[in-house]
Amino acid sequence: MKVVKIGKPFETDGIENFAGIKEVFNVQALFEGTAIQYTQDDKITLKYKMAKEDIIYGLGENMRGINKRGGIYESFCTDDPSQTPDRRSLYGAHNFFIIDSEPLPVGIFIDFPGRVTFDLGYSHRDDLEVIIDGLDVKIYLISGANKLEIVEQFLRAIGPSFLPPKWAFGYQQSRWSYESAQVVRDLAKSFDQEDIPLDAIYLDIDYMKDYKNFTVDEVAFPDFKNFIKEIKEKGIRLVPIIDAGCKVEEGYFLHEEGVQNKYYCVDEHDQPFVGAVWPGKVHFPDFINPKARQWFGNHYNKLIDLGIEGFWNDMNEPAIFYTEKGLKSAIDHAVACKDKNLDIHTFFQLKDQFVGLSNRLEDYQSFYHKKDEKLYNHLALHNLYGYNMTRAAGEAFEVNYPDKRILLFSRASYIGMHRYGGIWTGDNHGWWEHLLLNIKMMPSLNMCGFIYSGADIGGFGANTDAELLMRWSQFAVYTPLFRNHSCMGTRQQEPFRFDENTTSTLRDIIKFRYAFTSHLYSEFMLSNQHFKMLFKPLSFEYNDQESKQVEDQLLYGSSLMLAPIYQANQLGRYVYLPETMLKWVIKSEHDYTLEAVEKGQHYFNVETEAWLNFIRVNQMVMLNKSCNRTDDIDASVMKCLGYIKDEGAYVLYTDDGISRNTDGEEFVLVASYADKTLTLSHKGSGPVKIIHYEIITTDQVEHKGVYYV
Ligand code: GLC
Repeated sequence: MKVVKIGKPFETDGIENFAGIKEVFNVQALFEGTAIQYTQDDKITLKYKMAKEDIIYGLGENMRGINKRGGIYESFCTDDPSQTPDRRSLYGAHNFFIIDSEPLPVGIFIDFPGRVTFDLGYSHRDDLEVIIDGLDVKIYLISGANKLEIVEQFLRAIGPSFLPPKWAFGYQQSRWSYESAQVVRDLAKSFDQEDIPLDAIYLDIDYMKDYKNFTVDEVAFPDFKNFIKEIKEKGIRLVPIIDAGCKVEEGYFLHEEGVQNKYYCVDEHDQPFVGAVWPGKVHFPDFINPKARQWFGNHYNKLIDLGIEGFWNDMNEPAIFYTEKGLKSAIDHAVACKDKNLDIHTFFQLKDQFVGLSNRLEDYQSFYHKKDEKLYNHLALHNLYGYNMTRAAGEAFEVNYPDKRILLFSRASYIGMHRYGGIWTGDNHGWWEHLLLNIKMMPSLNMCGFIYSGADIGGFGANTDAELLMRWSQFAVYTPLFRNHSCMGTRQQEPFRFDENTTSTLRDIIKFRYAFTSHLYSEFMLSNQHFKMLFKPLSFEYNDQESKQVEDQLLYGSSLMLAPIYQANQLGRYVYLPETMLKWVIKSEHDYTLEAVEKGQHYFNVETEAWLNFIRVNQMVMLNKSCNRTDDIDASVMKCLGYIKDEGAYVLYTDDGISRNTDGEEFVLVASYADKTLTLSHKGSGPVKIIHYEIITTDQVEHKGVYYV
């Protein structure tokens, strides 16, 4: 891995571990041996002529496919709930990508906190152009024998992920909003009555008093501390939201402290900058300033001391509904239009004045951050804002709760933020297209370090439907963040809001997730410790031409290939198998089938209640018995499913799931097949005592039995 520093780049702290990174002193040395061209005028541009077969992977949270070629993308954290195919920016800025070309792939990370445009064959089919809006940047180039090796180097350099507690791998229910303690209580009760597992309920903005961070609406949530305790006694955690904008209100502690200590971003007159979000006028903490970070981060203690163990940070692109200046000019414009006969141009000008009020470039340009007594225009550091909000919380947790994992995830992000928190993919919709987007996005998020991630299951905006929710939940069984969240005004989409058959299917899916949690948790922790992706495109492990084309199947951890159904009314799908695998069709923890399938293209029937997985050769999966809370998972009696040719070793990592200590135990089950005899043995230790195994060998023999550890 090599880096070149151009100009005076702002230190983003995206990279954590510089060991093994060689600094070169000119761009020629950086791009030596590649066909990448560098030019510089008022911007920096990298150009590369793509060969017909070249594939571009990466860019984290973004639209389009696994292969990003043909599209144009802008790294500019954006609060845009539409997520339609024409969008260039979503909430994160993840400037890492791989050009997969002959003879060898190459990885590039543009460490730049402002806007970067990736034109990947959009303007001209074969031209890749990266345009950096500035002249101060660090560019990293990673070479390696293959894509996985390149990703591993990058993941090592940006450091391991924050550690979510184990309960954060359970099912989580959210909605904007469960607006009172009684609503939350009733919700928890419904889950129990319906026998649907649940680990967390989310509190959206309405738990706060007038949308003020670190306050609680005592009318809607009286005696919050005891309420948290009451819910926790049922084994359920409450996860409150924290927003970037802090209400401007005299006497409100956050306002007073922030203004007095100059912790807020300032305008051109060195006064706290005013924007408007949920509470009306707000100031934005200057998270770039380490002191402001510390101050804001320590405020999370207020809620932690009441018993809270997890948070989601929102609106931190930052989202600005309007500024006084923007609003005034729109209103003045409207007044000037009064009683006029508006034609095509004047009418749309008027309309656009209001439509364009939010997240205006001019507003982003009109405030400043301070670091080491230096002033920085926000626009130049825009993509670092949400990252540093989450860092504020993460850094404070490390100091204040050194022994405890606290769940944290954010909407906006930049490379490196995963060390403090995960991400959810923002305001998607209850559209089939967004289920597919979720599927395609998981590998690129993992490439950028975000392994604790997931989408709003069922979709946030727009009304979902039962079938979509079932199919989406079947895929989300595998995403570390497993949260159903929806927007105010949409149809209620908790798993029991539909017909009985849907409730029963969703119950089976969610219960399966709990049976799968030991495996998922282990895969997550091992991926993190070994700097590996959890979700991978097929082409990261298989070199054949077909695997390069597959956009709707994913490799998962070391043992699985997933082939989700993502279209309405589909009772089956085509699947490409790059090698022989064990088809595992799951309806529930107890109701599944296993069947060996040859390499090649196949069509498989799959009922709506079932989903398709494949166990790879010489691989196994371990399931614990399902339960309704992750705290109740018992990994002493396990079921092992496997597909063995000659020898497979399965590693199950376990730890206490709550302390920051990751010296857990590794239990290794080895299955050997020789002379028509299957032999199981084990190494290491852990909670596993009894294993009920069902192993199919590649000669199509089924081996069933019990292995005592
Ligand atoms: C934003 C978030 C969404 C949340 C809403 C209200 O739109 O992305 O998840 O529910 O704000 O807080």
